[in-house]
Amino acid sequence: MAHYIDMHNHILPAIDDGPRNMAEAVMLARDLVAAGYDTVVATPHTFEGKPAPDLILKRLGQLQDELKRQNVPLKLLPGAEQLIEPHLTARLQAGETLTLNQTKYLLLELPMLQPLPVYTEQLLFSLRTEGYRPVIPHPERVIALQRNHRLLYRLHQAGAIFQVTWAAFIGRIGPAAQKTARFMLDANLVHLLATDVHGPSTPLLAVDKAAAYLEQEKGDRFAALMLTTRPGHLLDDRTLDLPLPLTPAAHPRKKAFFLSRLFKA
Ligand SMILES: [Fe+2]
Repeated sequence: MAHYIDMHNHILPAIDDGPRNMAEAVMLARDLVAAGYDTVVATPHTFEGKPAPDLILKRLGQLQDELKRQNVPLKLLPGAEQLIEPHLTARLQAGETLTLNQTKYLLLELPMLQPLPVYTEQLLFSLRTEGYRPVIPHPERVIALQRNHRLLYRLHQAGAIFQVTWAAFIGRIGPAAQKTARFMLDANLVHLLATDVHGPSTPLLAVDKAAAYLEQEKGDRFAALMLTTRPGHLLDDRTLDLPLPLTPAAHPRKKAFFLSRLFKA
């Protein structure tokens, strides 16, 4: 049996745009177990400290109890997907929003459709200075990053770790997200992967197909690294051993491709 870890999903009932009730949340948990997961970090959408950590922990406890009662072998850990805001560092320090399983890692969501806020790099710097490690979920879906891949390198240099969605690699989130996800794979900028599922029976839970694609591109060790090893290190609050991003000079086979993408925007 596989022991996969999912670092980003919306499994908690009646708290965001995930499952509407306990029954749907249990169905999603069964889907995750069937896909090979035994641990998930529940990461409901939050903004400016809402919903409060107390409510997230309460829902998590309720769902964990129900899973035990129904013999669904899935362990839930607390987290949040925090939409970017200028005072996030202070809010974390005050305990008003959750990191991933109480580690130094947090999910920091960027706006999908608008330009990046002008304070983005400053916030990344402030988070790093205070000992946090920001993980940016689904960069492949952020239009500003789809249009300008140079920003990916800049954000990474400023301390961001990237978490790409499995389903993006096989085109289930659209062609633009697929293109960016594959660009990031070639550039060594896929640091983590997650499902980001919001409900049961979703075609986005395509981990097996996406893992097959990644194995073909990067070898079977890469998929295992993404499914168990690296998320395990993150949950233990260890420092992640990340590869350097590839530049055109470092990867001659991709030179023409990289140059065309880098200087397009
Ligand atoms: Fe999400």
